[in-house]
Amino acid sequence: MPSIARVALLLIFLSPGAGLWAADSTIDEKTFSCIRDMTPVRGFFVSNLQGDLEATVAVSTAGTGTYPQGSVIQLVPTEVMVKREAGFSPATQDWEFIELEVSDQGSKISKRGTVEVVNRFGGNCFACHVKANPGRDMVCEQGNGCDPIPLTPDMIRAIQNTDPRCEPVALPPEQIEALKQLQAALAKP
Ligand code: HEC
Repeated sequence: MPSIARVALLLIFLSPGAGLWAADSTIDEKTFSCIRDMTPVRGFFVSNLQGDLEATVAVSTAGTGTYPQGSVIQLVPTEVMVKREAGFSPATQDWEFIELEVSDQGSKISKRGTVEVVNRFGGNCFACHVKANPGRDMVCEQGNGCDPIPLTPDMIRAIQNTDPRCEPVALPPEQIEALKQLQAALAKP
């Protein structure tokens, strides 16, 4: 006769997805690669770690609704939102905020967590994203209640097109100009 504990353990392993999300180590540096290999929706990119890309794209396309578990969203190569399992973090609606360092060698996770994660410019991810209008599941885009980021659409395109994890592509002149402006802005003390 198997003990109750063994039966319980077996049930945990048999229930779909449970084992997969048991440890934070499920998400590691190998989870992330070239941003442009994800699926573009308007200006940002999405994927789904659990194979349910269609459900993720449906919410993105609608611009409203709750993202399914496993959804990954990126606007720039270094900042990621991952929809974790239900109950992971009620305050962030189960989003995990992640900051990456990216190079031609791949990705490194420099920060990950929920309400406490701060980007390299000192901005708290949650503090901005929580301001997104109700029904948007903390996804900002433009004009939906979040504090704006100081990047023009051309700058964002240029940053996406120069992700060092991707095959290089030629930049149109306006994006080359946008990168120059960005470098100048970052060089200011
Ligand atoms: C100053 C406020 C602010 C901070 C801080 C901030 N974001 Fe955002 N984020 C925005 C805005 C606004 C957009 C939409 C910009 C656009 O579409 O032009 C955005 C876009 C995004 C997107 C694309 C989906 C969306 O919401 O439009 C992701 C993913 C994201 N941010 C993750 C992060 C992560 C992770 C951090 C922290 C490491 C972070 N952000 C910090 C305001 C912020």
